[in-house]
Amino acid sequence: MPKWLKDAVFYEIYPQSFYDTNGDGIGDFNGIIEKLDYIKELGCNALWINPCYDSPFSDAGYDVRDYKKVAPRYGTNSDLYRLFGEAHKRGIHVLLDLVPGHTSEQHAWFKESQKAEKNKYSNRYIWTNAAFQPAKGFLYIGGETERDGVYVLNFFKSQPALNYGFLNPDPKEEWQLPMDHPDCLATREEIKDVMRFWLDHGCDGFRVDMADSLVKNDDKEKSGTCAIWRDVRNMLDEEYPDAAMVSEWNAPERALNRGGYHMDFYLNWGGNGYNSLFRDYETGEDNSFFKKDGKGDIMRFLDEYVPRYEATKENGYYCLITGNHDTRRLKKSLDDSELKIAYTFLFTMPGVPFLYYGDEIGMRYLDVPTKEGGYFRTGSRTPMQWNRKKNDGFSTCPADALYLPVDTSSDAPNVASQEADETSLLNTVKALLSLRHQEEELQADAEFEVVYAGARKLPFVYRRGTIFIALNPSTESVSAPIEAEDKEIIFSIGSGDVEEGRIVLGPQSCMVLK
Ligand code: NOJ
Repeated sequence: MPKWLKDAVFYEIYPQSFYDTNGDGIGDFNGIIEKLDYIKELGCNALWINPCYDSPFSDAGYDVRDYKKVAPRYGTNSDLYRLFGEAHKRGIHVLLDLVPGHTSEQHAWFKESQKAEKNKYSNRYIWTNAAFQPAKGFLYIGGETERDGVYVLNFFKSQPALNYGFLNPDPKEEWQLPMDHPDCLATREEIKDVMRFWLDHGCDGFRVDMADSLVKNDDKEKSGTCAIWRDVRNMLDEEYPDAAMVSEWNAPERALNRGGYHMDFYLNWGGNGYNSLFRDYETGEDNSFFKKDGKGDIMRFLDEYVPRYEATKENGYYCLITGNHDTRRLKKSLDDSELKIAYTFLFTMPGVPFLYYGDEIGMRYLDVPTKEGGYFRTGSRTPMQWNRKKNDGFSTCPADALYLPVDTSSDAPNVASQEADETSLLNTVKALLSLRHQEEELQADAEFEVVYAGARKLPFVYRRGTIFIALNPSTESVSAPIEAEDKEIIFSIGSGDVEEGRIVLGPQSCMVLK
């Protein structure tokens, strides 16, 4: 396990929308470099940058055309290498986004693979043997290529699936190759080669896209896919022991216990769990735990989270996120007062927290037209709001040249105004992250235990090592029978007190007790 993860706090950057330094309306590597001091001051010491490789951008860069070349709109490979160096000077680690499950249909491998003559790349993707032979059970495309066959997709139409083989090839479907077929092993080696390429140039690891998607006809436990990741982890342990991998999987028993991942994301899938904390509106009725109406139920989260955390904590980190480029921003349903309590929770939990750019100032989820395959996700991908200047300080370009429109509302949150306001969300995040760096017991490894929680019962109190965290998102005053007289309040929002045998919290309040 890379030691730096213990106290890591990640900042996710959607590079299109972070900071534009050359006035073309789209963010760039130099923009990220210019803002490294901001990120450091915020308290983040690691970055995850969404795919920044050459791409036709049918899916915002998750359709990679060249794994080893950056997209010119962000700068050059040398600019990215410089970013690694500048980040390292400030103690910041950088993860790139690895997209191993598919490429763009414009990738050179796919261009070769679709040729009628057999070649080195014929089996790099998954093809049936004839244009009229369907790839049963898969999304596939036929009729578009010179090659007589249909090919399997991994996601959008522009993203053909790379071929890592089938765990249990169907004997009736002779086009399904086993995982140990030399051509499937070659795909795996190519992806390792891509990883080595970036690691050798100074990157510190990868966020892995659709990590569970490699092996087809895999079993329920994803044994085939786990075996490949375990093999990749062995390579890292041997050659790059400080490199880290985080999976987009949301299955820590697989990713952490069997796949060798250092971290797995707890994602917003399903009605309970993570989403019940703040995006419950997606189920139709909004009973999010962090809403001040106090209608939420923390057990909807704990019943899912705790067993997974317990079953995997020895092997890696199950990571909480404020959001990401695929989710609606938290601000869609929570106001700043609610967000402050939610962030107190997110940044004092075990594992490695991830903060999505702009969530530190409570950027809104905007109603904007789709861009680059974003659809509903586009509203969470708009330019970072730095100040009140032109285009919210994101770019000096004319407004109609912006990658996506900026928030033009008169009360659009921005960094400069919040820096000047002691009570702002931004300063609350800074205080929380600085506390986390100061207290080892608030970091990734220290024990987590629920102290006081129940269906529609408040406050919610948990323990990290010897530190207690007590949260009351509701507008009612609440209290709980907890012995904490010997403890000191080291962080608080609103009003709270420790009485003999009780913890008392005023409306929308929280405390961290040491
Ligand atoms: C997950 C990524 O986060 C998402 O943005 C992308 O569209 C799909 N995987 C396909 O790569």
